[in-house]
Amino acid sequence: MRILSISIFCLLLSLNSTKAQKPIYLDVNQPIEKRIENALSLMTLEEKVAMCHAQSKFCSKGVPRLGIPEVWMTDGPHGIREEVFWDEWSGAKWTNDSCTAFPALTCLAASFNPEVSHLYGKSIGEEARYRNKSVLLGPGVNIYRTPLNGRNFEYMGEDPYLSSRMVVPYVQGVQENGVAACVKHFALNNQEKERFTVNVEASDRALYEIYLPAFKAAVLEGKAWSIMGSYNQFRGQHCCHNDLLLNRILKSDWKFDGVVISDWGGTHDSDQSVNNGLDLEMGTWTDGLTTKGTSSYSSYYLANPFLQGLKSGKYNEKLLNDKVSRLLRMIFRTTMNTDRPYGKFISPEHSEAARKIAEQGIVLLRNEHQTLPIPVGKYKRIAVIGENATRSLVIGGGSSSLKVAYEVSPLEGLTKKYGIETIVYSKGYSSEITENNAKSKLAADSLIQAAVEVVRNADAVIFIGGLNKNYFQDSEGDDRKSLALPYEQDRLINALLTANKNLAVLICSGNAVEMPWLSKIPALAQVWYLGSEAGNAIANILSGEVNPSGKLPFSFPKKLEDNAAISFGKISYPGDGKKEEYKEDILVGYRWFDTKKITPLFPFGFGMSYTTFEMTKAITDKTIFTSDDVIKLVVNVKNTGKMKGSEVVQAYISEIKPTVLRPLKELKAFSKIMLDAGEVKQVELNLPVKDWAFYDEKATGWKINPGRYTINIGTSSSDIRQRVNVQIKK
Ligand code: GLC
Repeated sequence: MRILSISIFCLLLSLNSTKAQKPIYLDVNQPIEKRIENALSLMTLEEKVAMCHAQSKFCSKGVPRLGIPEVWMTDGPHGIREEVFWDEWSGAKWTNDSCTAFPALTCLAASFNPEVSHLYGKSIGEEARYRNKSVLLGPGVNIYRTPLNGRNFEYMGEDPYLSSRMVVPYVQGVQENGVAACVKHFALNNQEKERFTVNVEASDRALYEIYLPAFKAAVLEGKAWSIMGSYNQFRGQHCCHNDLLLNRILKSDWKFDGVVISDWGGTHDSDQSVNNGLDLEMGTWTDGLTTKGTSSYSSYYLANPFLQGLKSGKYNEKLLNDKVSRLLRMIFRTTMNTDRPYGKFISPEHSEAARKIAEQGIVLLRNEHQTLPIPVGKYKRIAVIGENATRSLVIGGGSSSLKVAYEVSPLEGLTKKYGIETIVYSKGYSSEITENNAKSKLAADSLIQAAVEVVRNADAVIFIGGLNKNYFQDSEGDDRKSLALPYEQDRLINALLTANKNLAVLICSGNAVEMPWLSKIPALAQVWYLGSEAGNAIANILSGEVNPSGKLPFSFPKKLEDNAAISFGKISYPGDGKKEEYKEDILVGYRWFDTKKITPLFPFGFGMSYTTFEMTKAITDKTIFTSDDVIKLVVNVKNTGKMKGSEVVQAYISEIKPTVLRPLKELKAFSKIMLDAGEVKQVELNLPVKDWAFYDEKATGWKINPGRYTINIGTSSSDIRQRVNVQIKK
């Protein structure tokens, strides 16, 4: 009897508990906006607030009771970061998270090829999807303002138009996988030095014409589902909760319907984080790199302080519902999107994509008397010199550091291409030798001496050096201290030249470097950070299997002081500790060199090929236009050499009689075309006249002056081959 009564009791209990906890499943077949309303109506205040801040290093809460999953985010712009422990930055030593490393974004920008950018976004998005991430913390599109910024390698160069054209396909490619791109760092985060505190002051023209366009394109055209606020301040407010940038420009003017995610440790104020447009607070009290948080997640600005403020009536629940609606929208577009594909990881297609992007981004900068290419079999002995020929360049550099499935070093790629019997290697320099003492000098000297001996008997020499991902090099957290190559590479290159003049220099970097030996070397290429396929891409280019077609996405100054921001002194860079004034205003990069008539070492948009091209007969469909018109310009391009190759036709506009300061010319269209030897193609460029506007600070809006303009068509910002004059009338 007793057993019977107990079992009846248990049965009643289980029935009762089942009834009380009947799970509520959200209807996934409704339109997203309906699903948001439905979910909001079912969520408690606590559940809503919990969604607005981190619960671990890289995830934020869902609503388990409603079947709404956590939001998992991952770095970075070049590949999917390894898993870390719940609360740590250190790797969790998983065995299934070694990814494909794609080239750094400066290399992607150098391809000047939006199709390649889509391939990039699609491929990296597939890897993020496969690893079940909802948000990819990239791409970065901060403008290259000085050649010292430690994170320039993660971004797309000095020109807002190039960055705008290249970020859109990347974002679209990522999001086709049901993964949110998180375009960063919004905004004016153009240095690493004092990045958490620097307070940037810049004019409206510089803001709207230079620093915002790539973000605007990512939102309006790319339809980015999330944006990351940057660490710095702009006009006295931290960018992670900046009323002008987030509420007025991003969410009101641009009608951004996605999520604003703080950078890790970028949130500093409760009221501002509630009121100024922040939706998801991550990484508070950490430096985004190493230090652990000193407080629990519940004490985050958008956690208990927010909840208490809502309960006390200090904050309006409408603000909370806006944040949560955006978070739900991102979740329904990603993890709860029932149509999204399943992704791929370290697939052969991703290796091929990584190699293709690398090959399209490598920039040939000098090639006297056909030093390059070096066809396989041409030489019996090729000396490869330099630490970057063997050093891993996907590790380090901060949050974009990767644990990769493989990384073909330049030495491995060259050995595979030319044969083990042809290639001989010597390190030449070491990034370990940084002390300034006799012992270090001896060590450096012996490395140089050994390398000189190796090159003495070689038919050709390939030097592979540049920067690396160490602190104060190309790395997050601080900036470089000079434009010069580190580790006595200049001394090494000069020493090598005394023993063998047939020397090609390859620079691995995300920044411009000084080249005191330039006139003495016959060949030079900028080979960026190329990721898993680095060695194969470099070998394909050097052997002539692939013809280089990259163009510089930023200018190389002859000396540091030639750079616009640097030329205005400390207040302009790195700031005086209280603020930093962007005194060069809109004259960033080639805009500065052109207008101030300073000759750069290598100009923006410059890149050579193993073949040659000529441009003729540039004409437009009319000569008089209105600001609503899209000008159709055609130009004939001929491959006048003996090898198939690609050229990038670039169109820069100049206002003949501007009423305000305007750069001598501004890039407003480009197109990359492939031509067989001897082939001629008519290239069409579309130039919407509305893109030629300047930001009128008095009228607080965009303006196009009627009058005469010149369209300068060329193969770089300083190699103009054709000019077409047009008239814009009211
Ligand atoms: C870092 C970086 C940001 C990165 C984030 C998470 O500090 O600034 O780009 O996505 O923290 O690692």
